[in-house]
Amino acid sequence: MTINYSEKIPNNVNLANDRTLQRALEHWQPHFLQWWHEMGPTDFEKAEVYLRTATSVDAKGWATYGAVHMPEYRWGIFLADAVPERKIGFGDAMGQSVWQQVPGEYRSTLRRLIVTQGDTEPASVEQQRLLGHTCPSLYDLRNLFQVNVEEGRHLWAMVYLLHAYFGRDGREEAEELLARHSGDSDKPRILITFNEPISDWLSFYCFTYFTDRDGKYQLKSLAESSFDPLSRSCRFMLTEEAHHMFVGETGIGRVVKRTLEVMKELGTDDPARIRAHGAVDLPLLQKYLNFWCSSSVDLFGSEISSNSAANFANGLKGRPDEEQYEDHVLRGATLRMESPDGKGGIRTEDVPMLNALNEVMRESYLKDCEIGLKRWNRAIERAGQGFRLTLPSPHFRRSIGAWAGLPVTPQGKLISRAEYDKRLPDWVPSESDRAFVRSLMQKVAEPGKMAAWVAPPERGINNLPVDYEYVHLA
Ligand SMILES: [Fe+2]
Ligand SMILES: [Fe+2]
Repeated sequence: MTINYSEKIPNNVNLANDRTLQRALEHWQPHFLQWWHEMGPTDFEKAEVYLRTATSVDAKGWATYGAVHMPEYRWGIFLADAVPERKIGFGDAMGQSVWQQVPGEYRSTLRRLIVTQGDTEPASVEQQRLLGHTCPSLYDLRNLFQVNVEEGRHLWAMVYLLHAYFGRDGREEAEELLARHSGDSDKPRILITFNEPISDWLSFYCFTYFTDRDGKYQLKSLAESSFDPLSRSCRFMLTEEAHHMFVGETGIGRVVKRTLEVMKELGTDDPARIRAHGAVDLPLLQKYLNFWCSSSVDLFGSEISSNSAANFANGLKGRPDEEQYEDHVLRGATLRMESPDGKGGIRTEDVPMLNALNEVMRESYLKDCEIGLKRWNRAIERAGQGFRLTLPSPHFRRSIGAWAGLPVTPQGKLISRAEYDKRLPDWVPSESDRAFVRSLMQKVAEPGKMAAWVAPPERGINNLPVDYEYVHLA
């Protein structure tokens, strides 16, 4: 199924056949564009950006590439192809037909799931809106804008579901998605991580590595949903999401590469000397990883959760890649879990698996996070350096769940509050670390040129050379 670009809203959902829905979305469209103008990337509306735009859901060629002005990007509504006679794949109704409409009893829960996912999409665009001014290269600038326009499209994907399946409440929620803003004291975004400022590119790479990967896991679990339009929507969003994590993984990899070059050139691993040379020392990078990883693991929610149990049992939200498991009902299954005992120690307990699914998701997420670390550490090892990057313990610096607010080291050890407070600046970026990173952020906008703190990428976008003019600044 190709997408009809002659319509105001490109779509493969037959919008032309539903005039009421089409009118409602055409009414929302100018509000979205106004939001983009006010809250999207600042000062780049006249720039021509080499962007990919989704034009079909065909696995062989779903996107076209070309130079566009971002406000003219064709944000559209695309669902992955329906799986014929798809059956519910998990929970108590397993094996029954999936739903093409929202069952009345799950209406508010499904709406909440869609709104929570939808809220993260514009939030990240808001978080990143100033980054263009300090881009390390035109290649990076283009990638930033690619991620931004696609998060905008992900918002469209969720707004379509709200408008098409949730009537008036859905339309109101769609307006609210444009009314909350990242970091706003009156109307913040729903989840904490999406209110953290992303004011430098090291944070941007970490965000796309850790937080977009949380997005991948949320989308994968919603792609399992019995509510078929949600499933199909998320399946297509995952196609775009892969590039966001690529930006993070290769971004951090390029920082590591550049740092290793500087270490070799200076013949030292002394952070002060590396910083004086305008590069990011590895312990500093580790602090950024600690910050963004610990913030992102909170997004999976409490270790023990009756909501996650109900969402699974009712078939609303599955586990990522549900087909990898044998038991899809989980009645009677348990998971062994370590929890704080409230007296400064740790106890081990068996928790009903249905209540432990947030933890199951968090564990598979962290396993996925390890892949990049292995790659970066291999580069460090090959350069003959002893430092190793690690993921912090999932109990470190938590604000949600059993470990919330507890003084735990990045290695997972429970320590005294006084010691924790004293050592925290060694584990996450301190004010002076952040000031140093900010001092590196100077705009480089000549084709092929790179900022001194990051190595060039191995290849360009869509087989173009690295020195291609990916953004033509007005
Ligand atoms: Fe997204
Ligand atoms: Fe993303």
